[in-house]
Amino acid sequence: MSEHKAPKDIKEKIKDHYAKAINMKVEKVTGSLPMVSSDDCCSPANNKEESSDSCCAPQPVEFDKEAAERFAKMAGYTDEQLQNMPGTVSSFGCGNPVAFMKVKPGEVVLDLGSGSGLDLILAAKKVGDTGKAIGLDMTDAMIDVCRKNLVTAKITNAEVRKGEMESMPVVDSEVDWIISNCVINLSPDKEKVFAESFRVLKPGGQVMVSDIVTIGLPDEFRSDIGAWVGCIAGAVEEDEYIRLMEEAGFTDVKVTEKLVYDSSSLAAMANDNCGCGTDGDRTFSLKDADNYAGKVATVRVYATKPGGCCC
Ligand SMILES: C[S@@+](CC[C@H](N)C(=O)[O-])C[C@H]1O[C@@H](n2cnc3c(N)ncnc32)[C@H](O)[C@@H]1O
Repeated sequence: MSEHKAPKDIKEKIKDHYAKAINMKVEKVTGSLPMVSSDDCCSPANNKEESSDSCCAPQPVEFDKEAAERFAKMAGYTDEQLQNMPGTVSSFGCGNPVAFMKVKPGEVVLDLGSGSGLDLILAAKKVGDTGKAIGLDMTDAMIDVCRKNLVTAKITNAEVRKGEMESMPVVDSEVDWIISNCVINLSPDKEKVFAESFRVLKPGGQVMVSDIVTIGLPDEFRSDIGAWVGCIAGAVEEDEYIRLMEEAGFTDVKVTEKLVYDSSSLAAMANDNCGCGTDGDRTFSLKDADNYAGKVATVRVYATKPGGCCC
């Protein structure tokens, strides 16, 4: 494991960052801030039920195809995939794991860090009515928006669970596939994420994740919280990522695609795509991007859990 340690309270900072990012997106698309968040409405303290007339019930949101496309195309989504996507679906990712997942109808897919639900919706469509897509996220604001987006997109075979990927609210061998888009890099305990992923996959289950890795990034950059929540400083070296997955028990672990960022694509990622570089206090600048150029890559990683049926 690299020597660097996660900044203190990193998970709270990540939640803050992504809550702000999705709230900004909702405000941009709908002209107003989200009506509810689980914190101020649906918390047990408020004693509210998820009935249709309650503020806790998912509310359909407006479609804004243009806005959704602008963000998502950065990660390589096609027009067809974005068709009829709710406007408050936003790609905070760095790839498109669903497109490369050879999922079959009827299978169960788990999306780690499902955000506003883009990959979750696409996965739900792929597995069809007999299958299921499960989103997992720890940020209340994201979960709220994602649930509303599922309603708007008329997806009935998907759910979002609140929890952390280091201790997943998922039973052993519940899922056939794990996907994730630019999230595992954020975890301060990647060993646990991979151990949990192994536990919840059925024997023979498969992983297809898009993520950020580093290539010889000096440790001095890793103490920067802005760069951590922006998916960079928390990223581990590519070899280490593979090793951690193998140590968790995965086999056939391979990087199937890699895109090394130059400074302008880093700046674009930071400022336009996932709101990655902005944590409210600090904006990822082009000067920073120059420091990271050639040392940060987005990779698509495939792996399998041994076992499963031979037929
Ligand atoms: C960079 S965004 C990616 C969102 C989504 N995958 C996408 O492509 O748009 C990271 C998401 O992961 C969630 N997240 C970060 N760390 C997490 C953790 N340890 N457990 C669960 N969710 C986490 C954040 O709340 C946020 O929604």
